[in-house]
Amino acid sequence: MATTSGKLWIVGAGGFAAEVLHSLRGQVPDEQDGAADLAFAADDASHRTFMGLPVHGLEQIQPGDRFVIAIGSGSARERLHHLLARRGAIPFAVESPTAVVGRNMTIGQGSVLSDFTTLTGNSTIGTQFQCNIYSYVAHDCHIGDFVTFAPRVCCNGNVHIFDHAYIGTGAILRQGTQQKPLRIGQGAVVGMGAVVTKDVADGETVVGNPARVMQRSAPETAAEH
Ligand SMILES: CC(C)(COP(=O)(O)OP(=O)(O)OC[C@H]1O[C@@H](n2cnc3c(N)ncnc32)[C@H](O)[C@@H]1OP(=O)(O)O)[C@@H](O)C(=O)NCCC(=O)NCCS
Repeated sequence: MATTSGKLWIVGAGGFAAEVLHSLRGQVPDEQDGAADLAFAADDASHRTFMGLPVHGLEQIQPGDRFVIAIGSGSARERLHHLLARRGAIPFAVESPTAVVGRNMTIGQGSVLSDFTTLTGNSTIGTQFQCNIYSYVAHDCHIGDFVTFAPRVCCNGNVHIFDHAYIGTGAILRQGTQQKPLRIGQGAVVGMGAVVTKDVADGETVVGNPARVMQRSAPETAAEH
């Protein structure tokens, strides 16, 4: 089936994709009016509709189309981001009408800022950041590429989070200082509910209050959903 150029695709057809559809309100015309050229795309397009919209295979995404990746795995987002960008499709940034973005923020391509998220200001964020409901990033943070925040993550000031880190629901990251930012290493996983008071090394999984190492080389699948 041919598609019209300029379509907006939500890549993924799971729970988070439904939430992204909701967060898009205000940025695209309401599909109920028939005005939005909006659809889901998935590796497995065997479900023909989702949330009342069509689901197509990824091959339907054309040069000039825009895409949002609604998948919790940072590595899956990286793969799809490069695949679709190489094809000439354009990453689209979702900013819920209830998201708050302060001054002096640099945010990379394809970010998703869900409902009630706050980026207070003075921070840099990389490509394909996923910031789930009620999460915040306070001042002077640096967040790498393909980083995922589950709901209600409290990322306090002067925290540096490296590429592909996953921060679970309700985790609290203690503030660092300008001289010594708190560091969450590349590919690290912070379990739901963890209170992180010390640096987390690359690939480590930490849980608990205060957070302790659970595993040294984090399989990203543990945190995927
Ligand atoms: C930390 C985490 C990645 C570990 O996943 P896992 O490797 O599959 O771990 P398991 O579920 O096998 O649990 C192993 C043990 O750790 C405990 N555990 C798991 N997650 C924990 C957490 N967040 N805090 C404290 N203990 C935890 C389990 O109870 C289990 O204990 P046991 O050995 O005494 O029975 C995962 O539990 C987690 O917190 N993921 C984030 C989930 C999330 O926020 N989802 C958001 C959806 S939008």
